[in-house]
Amino acid sequence: MRSRRIAVLALTGVLALSACSPDEPPPMHPAPGASGGGDPYFPDDGNGGYDALDYHVDVGYDPASGRLDGDTTVTAKATQDLSSFNLDLRGLDVASVDVDGQPARFTREKQHELVVTPSGPLRAGSTFKTRVRYSGVPAKTPHEGGPENGWAKTEDGGAYLVGEPHSASFWYPVNETPRDKATFSVTAHVPEGWTVLSNGREQGNTTKDGKTTTTWTEPNPIASYLTTIAIDKFTVKRSALPDGTPIVSAYAPGAEAREATGDRLPEVIAFLESKFGPYPQSAAGGIYLDEDIHFSLETQTRPTYAKWAEILTVVHENAHQWFGDSVSLNSWSDICLNECFASYAQWLWGEREGQNLDDRYRAAIEITRGSTDFWAQKLVDMGQEHLFQGVYDKGILAMHALRRELGEPAFATLLHDWVTQHRGANGTWAEFEKLVSRVAGRDLSGFLADWFKGTKLPADRNLYPGALRP
Ligand code: ARG
Ligand code: ZN
Repeated sequence: MRSRRIAVLALTGVLALSACSPDEPPPMHPAPGASGGGDPYFPDDGNGGYDALDYHVDVGYDPASGRLDGDTTVTAKATQDLSSFNLDLRGLDVASVDVDGQPARFTREKQHELVVTPSGPLRAGSTFKTRVRYSGVPAKTPHEGGPENGWAKTEDGGAYLVGEPHSASFWYPVNETPRDKATFSVTAHVPEGWTVLSNGREQGNTTKDGKTTTTWTEPNPIASYLTTIAIDKFTVKRSALPDGTPIVSAYAPGAEAREATGDRLPEVIAFLESKFGPYPQSAAGGIYLDEDIHFSLETQTRPTYAKWAEILTVVHENAHQWFGDSVSLNSWSDICLNECFASYAQWLWGEREGQNLDDRYRAAIEITRGSTDFWAQKLVDMGQEHLFQGVYDKGILAMHALRRELGEPAFATLLHDWVTQHRGANGTWAEFEKLVSRVAGRDLSGFLADWFKGTKLPADRNLYPGALRP
């Protein structure tokens, strides 16, 4: 009796201590969100403490002055109690930051950290909206000694934006890491006569008082480097894929002749679907620039093409719509998950045109056999300074060898399962390796290490697997 009574009392006491009254939330332990997203090659990219869910970017752009006026709302979910958090933004003057409608304090730190301190801490699990108003002439990184990234102007006064891994932070505040994909929309205001292209679906445009306003929405999660905007006096062509998916392709002044290439998009996508499964994006098309830039980019739904791009580039960038865009890498060291696949798609296209890929492969091995430099290129974990090396050439050979090692049915299953399991999300090389062994029904880690992590010509049994065996 007595002991029971004590137990009851004790229990009441515990309840009173832990379950505070229902209208009083548990205490918070707010701390600043991390200023980096955790990528080993780009540790300062992105931020911690929240998960971006959606971006709405509202921009005015004046081609004459090159000035941009931005008003971006980032919807995010706190993953910890936050006293402050960072967004990534390069250059541009920030006029104000609001969090959930309340003015917030902000500072600019290092290259691209916009540090936001809301008026009160944000609770883990809560969704909050950050609105940033800013303006200025957006920057572009120099060509020399590095790739083009950022806001670029064309000769006729247009503008476009490509960059990998960095581009979004040149025109809107963002969690700039592919680890944090989010939905995206843009509303752009430009002087009448100019046309704005971006990702996803066109929501129509209106012209009033000499200003044209255009909205684009991308309902599928998108990695920040795959968002884009292009402003020019484009020739725009609209059509649809057989299932109704809208196609919008735009040709910059001087690029009109490339319509013949662009018009082949349905044929390219149908072919890629026959290899990879249903097209995973909300829309399709292309932004055909007349610019002599060093690379085209698989901007989501609507790749951006350099002036030299031809049909194989269209194949490559659209293969990325599955490999890189729908299924995104989690770490830049896994870039082969994007580029080895997109590059191999070019060979698949050649095969469709009648090429014998085994002959092509054997010839390539004979040409490269003596090159220690060629074989020294690691396809995975290559190091930040070697990011895009090897994946476009050695990567193709590795994919063909993998296909022959697996045989046709298992290779088809591999591609299909990879894009299905990680659709709209991320995948890692380690997960890919596991899937390879699973579809093979045996441990292929040795084969994969020799080809993808090795620094010399693979052993003969891996170099000439399956049907390639002499
Ligand atoms: N992903 C682009 C493509 O495959 C290439 C980007 C190259 N970027 C670079 N910094 N080199 O077409
Ligand atoms: Zn590529």
